Amino acid sequence: MNLQFIFATMAIVCVSTQVAMAGDSATGERAYLAKACIGCHGPAGKSANPDIYPNIAGKEAAYLVEQMKAFRAGTRANPLMTPMAAGLTDDDIANLAVYLSAQK
Ligand code: HEC
Repeated sequence: MNLQFIFATMAIVCVSTQVAMAGDSATGERAYLAKACIGCHGPAGKSANPDIYPNIAGKEAAYLVEQMKAFRAGTRANPLMTPMAAGLTDDDIANLAVYLSAQK
């Protein structure tokens, strides 16, 4: 095994780890529609009634991830949102966060 091979392998591992952690916006958009988030948070996360349903478009992805995980874990609770977060996987959350944070 030469050095070039080792560096190339390391580069591939780094890139694929980044992709896995970054989430995928198109998959996030599909999940946003399929999981009926749109029913409360509005098209692309732009709420028509932000006093009740927060605007989630354009917020930091890391913040969105944290909030969805908090609802799922029960450390943040809301009768409307808690059941919605209960079924989300880590991948769903990463994808949704990337999609929503890119909305303006
Ligand atoms: C039945 C209505 C409803 C649905 C459907 C719903 N949510 Fe929510 N969501 C809420 C409410 C209400 C809050 C605010 C809760 C609170 O004040 O603590 C909220 C809060 C959030 C927050 C935190 C926002 C912030 O600024 O802190 C995120 C992120 C979120 N929802 C994402 C989603 C996603 C993703 C989906 C789809 C899987 C979804 N929600 C589906 C009602 C809903």
